[in-house]
Amino acid sequence: VIFKNAAQASMIVAKEIADLIKSKQQKKENCILGLATGSSPIMVYEELVRMHKEEGLSFRNVITFNLDEYYPMRIDNNKSYHYFMHQHLFDHIDIKLENINIPDGTVSIEEIKQYCIDYEIKIKNSGGLDFQLLGIGRTGHVGFNEPGSHINSGTRIITLDHITRVDASSDFNGTDNVPKRAITMGVSTILQSKRIVLMAWGQNKADIIKRTIQEDISAEVPASFLQNHPNTTFVLDQSAASEL
Ligand code: GLP
Repeated sequence: VIFKNAAQASMIVAKEIADLIKSKQQKKENCILGLATGSSPIMVYEELVRMHKEEGLSFRNVITFNLDEYYPMRIDNNKSYHYFMHQHLFDHIDIKLENINIPDGTVSIEEIKQYCIDYEIKIKNSGGLDFQLLGIGRTGHVGFNEPGSHINSGTRIITLDHITRVDASSDFNGTDNVPKRAITMGVSTILQSKRIVLMAWGQNKADIIKRTIQEDISAEVPASFLQNHPNTTFVLDQSAASEL
């Protein structure tokens, strides 16, 4: 779906999430959301916060699982995805703290394999993701599933692509300061979500959006695996869609 601009598109995505939360509330069920970081989802989070403050949208039945976190990364570091999520969403809504799950960048390297297995189990035991929000990196990554990621991959530690580290360099004051690794949900973890919305804004995403949607499915562009997901929508602004 192509919108005139990111602001308009973000309103529609936020409304879909709010409607899902409310319909689950009516059924007295939890709503399991997979959440993303980066600049793309910021306006969606702003709109959800507004709906909480002005319209009484409650998040008491919401359980969240974030896609990824840099590794190693302290939780209180203002470059962490923990910090980002609290700053843009969690600090402003009534979600229960125990319902927030974000990969932990402080886990020791010896424990990380088990930690990732447990993250997967926790998602499954919660009932599985009802909705997964995604951005896309210029390498075609979703979460931090860089080129070469297998369709069956689960939550794991990965090495970041050089392009990804260059793109994150302004946040870290130079590419050399960007962590070399990250913990990410896998391609398979993402594909198991009942509903997926991938958002992309701006001209610098136009090429990867074209490759993701119009070229063959390939691990070289991990987001292309979404082509076979039965309930995925790409929400784009006109610039991101300009090469389609
Ligand atoms: C990071 C995140 C991704 C995100 C991507 C794009 O690499 N790990 O989940 O999709 O950035 O970021 P932006 O939305 O800022 O373009």
